Amino acid sequence: MSDNNRPGLDFDFHGKALDNIFETYAEIRDKCPVGHSERYGGFWFISKNNDIFAAEQDPERYSVAPSMLLPSFGTDIPMIPIDIDPPKHWEYRKILLPLFTPQAIRKIENGIRMTSRELAIKVLESLRHGPTDASSMFARPVPTIVFSRIAGFPEQDWPKFDKWVYDIIYARVEYPERAKNAAQAVMDYFNDLLMARRSAEPREDVIQKLLEARLDGNPLSQDELISYCYLLFVAGLDTTVWAIRSSLWYLGQNLEDQRRLREDPELIYMAVEEFLRTLSPVQAMARTCLADTVIQGQKISAGERVVLVFGSGNRDPDAYDHPEKIQIDREDNKHLAFGAGIHRCLGSNLARAELVISLKEFLNIVPEFTLAEPSEQWHGIGKLTIRMN
Ligand code: HEM
Repeated sequence: MSDNNRPGLDFDFHGKALDNIFETYAEIRDKCPVGHSERYGGFWFISKNNDIFAAEQDPERYSVAPSMLLPSFGTDIPMIPIDIDPPKHWEYRKILLPLFTPQAIRKIENGIRMTSRELAIKVLESLRHGPTDASSMFARPVPTIVFSRIAGFPEQDWPKFDKWVYDIIYARVEYPERAKNAAQAVMDYFNDLLMARRSAEPREDVIQKLLEARLDGNPLSQDELISYCYLLFVAGLDTTVWAIRSSLWYLGQNLEDQRRLREDPELIYMAVEEFLRTLSPVQAMARTCLADTVIQGQKISAGERVVLVFGSGNRDPDAYDHPEKIQIDREDNKHLAFGAGIHRCLGSNLARAELVISLKEFLNIVPEFTLAEPSEQWHGIGKLTIRMN
């Protein structure tokens, strides 16, 4: 950590930096709650819970253009609706709201349960023969299959999606070319899929809703449709995979909590919120500051990039008692895992349902398990090798 007048010079929130990120957060909150990093073209970071909430509530000062994603997800086109400022943002967002209400999600809970159950049974069969990768056999397929079904993305293509998502989100920092190629492949894929759907029988899914949407009386252009599908593809799959995987990662090492959740499955609702707070898949999102601003004594100039570090805000001692402790029955757990402003996660009801149901089914079918490879990290969507006790 640098101690010049732009503190926190080398702060990063991707890749290997995540291995020890919680120690880094504690340090920056303490020494430079608002600091500057030279990475990714240079950005300010905001690490305190109340400053992040305030920024989230102030979209006129903190624009999402050119993108919330830093570095980009392999493409420079703005993603709808995440990279769109008011007033247009709401026009795009409201198209899909009816599909993600609690009532709408209740209707698909049974499908989530059946998929989770089938996959958990396969994990159990594999565990009988030895250590098993619960990430590739459970955490990755559950959200991919469930979301493909809702969205209207052909389910049989999910192994292809899995690879593209990996290249776009995880390989992008080290191998931007891989992310770029995958992004192009995804856009070509949606271009073809949308063309095919225009002449197909109408169905009840996300793609249909987008095709039927009208903005000022006009349908969305092909480019707008592709951008929306692309965003849903990256937002709807990897995040929930990470959240299921990191929850299992925690439970594989904390047997007392694993047993508590088996004995009292209703506690899983609260445990999921606590996993989201402490092991969140979206550790940070970017904005551009539109006016000269002073926070925590640091001046951010108009036009500079700013990163809201949700993961740090979620462990801020000024906001939570014993913030580093994962307390599966924590009450009043108002966290930042889904954001907190006008761009608050559109899929949060779906994500919560997937997390609760998949964990319930997993614990119901798979007996007590531990991590077989303790060196496997808490973050990402890589392997999670478990064994039965
Ligand atoms: C555990 C899983 C998930 C987490 C932690 C998560 C987190 C987030 C976060 C932090 C944001 C940005 C909020 C902001 O900057 O204010 C966001 C936006 C968004 N998420 Fe999620 N997400 C998850 C799952 C999903 C799913 C399953 C979908 C599928 C529909 C989804 C769709 C979106 C969309 C469309 C946006 C943009 C909303 C807007 O700009 O108005 N997310 N999510």
